[in-house]
Amino acid sequence: MSDRLTLETRRPEASSPPQEKVTRFFDGAAGFWTQVYSAPGVFADTHRRRLELALAWIDSLALQPGAHILVVGAGAGFEVIALANRGYLLTAIEPANAMVEIARGRADAAGCTGVRWVNGDAHALGFARESFDVVMALGVIPWLHTPGVAMAEMGRVLRPGGWWLGSADNAVRLDRLVDPARNPVVAPLSRRIRKAVMRPSASARPKARMHTGRAVHRLLDDAGIDPVAEVTFGFGPFTLIGRSMLPEAVGRTINAKLTELALRGVPLARATGSQRLALGQKRLVTP
Ligand SMILES: C[S@@+](CC[C@H](N)C(=O)[O-])C[C@H]1O[C@@H](n2cnc3c(N)ncnc32)[C@H](O)[C@@H]1O
Repeated sequence: MSDRLTLETRRPEASSPPQEKVTRFFDGAAGFWTQVYSAPGVFADTHRRRLELALAWIDSLALQPGAHILVVGAGAGFEVIALANRGYLLTAIEPANAMVEIARGRADAAGCTGVRWVNGDAHALGFARESFDVVMALGVIPWLHTPGVAMAEMGRVLRPGGWWLGSADNAVRLDRLVDPARNPVVAPLSRRIRKAVMRPSASARPKARMHTGRAVHRLLDDAGIDPVAEVTFGFGPFTLIGRSMLPEAVGRTINAKLTELALRGVPLARATGSQRLALGQKRLVTP
C-alpha cells in the first residue's frame, strides 16, 4: 500500500438542507462515535457486534490482497482501520469534517497511512463506475435523505460481481414494539405522548430512518445488487414511554441472549433485532 495520505473535498454541488443537518449533527457527535466502540451498554455492545459480524463476512469472501474497498460514512474510522490492516486498498468517504479528521488521525496512528480520504456524500460519489470490489456502508442508510439515490451510486461504483455490505436500522425491532411511545401501530397517540415527555432538543436532531427487510431488498434490487445474506441482531435498550426500563447489566444480558438466538435463526428473534446487516452481490449484467 502506498504511504500517500490524501484528503479530497467532494461536497455535492447542491448539498441539501437535510444533509447539512445530518453533517452538522455528526460533526458535533464525532467524539461520541470515537468512544462508542469502547463504551459500556447495549448500544455500544450492538455496534461492536455489528463491526465484528461485518468483518467476519468480509473474511468469508476471501478477497484478493489489494482488493479495493470503498467505506461510505467512515465515521471515526474503525472499519477502515480493520480493513486496511487486512491488506486491502481503502477509500473512505465521509461528509463530516470532524469525523474525517479523527478517523484519519486514528488510521495514521495505527499505521494505515495509505487510505484515500474523501470529504463527500454518498448521494454523489463522483468515483468512476465499477471501480471498487467492495462497498461497505455501516450505519449510514438511516441518515440518508434519499437512500435510493445513494444506493444507486454505490451500485454504480461497484464492479459486476463485487460485494455490498451495509446495515439499516430495523423498523420491526423488539425495543420499538414493546414501547407504546415508539410502537408504529399506536403511532398517532405515541407522537402526542412523546411531544409531552421528551426533551425539546430531541426534535432539533436529524431523525434516523428505519427500514423493513423488504425496503432494504428493494433498495438493493434497484441498485442492481442481489441480496446474499441478512441478519438482524441487537435488542434494546428497552424503554417505556421513551424512558429506560432496565438496569444496564440486565439489559446487556438480555441483549446478548436474544442476539445469540437471532443469529442462530430462531423465529421471531431473527427478525426483530434493532440492526439489519445485509450482504449483496452486484449482478454481472445490469440493464
Ligand atoms: C452512525 S455513523 C457510522 C460510522 C461508521 N460507519 C461506523 O459504523 O462506526 C454514520 C456515519 O455516516 C455519515 N453520513 C451521514 N450522511 C452521509 C452521507 N450522505 N454520505 C456518506 N456518509 C454519511 C455520518 O457523518 C457518520 O459518520
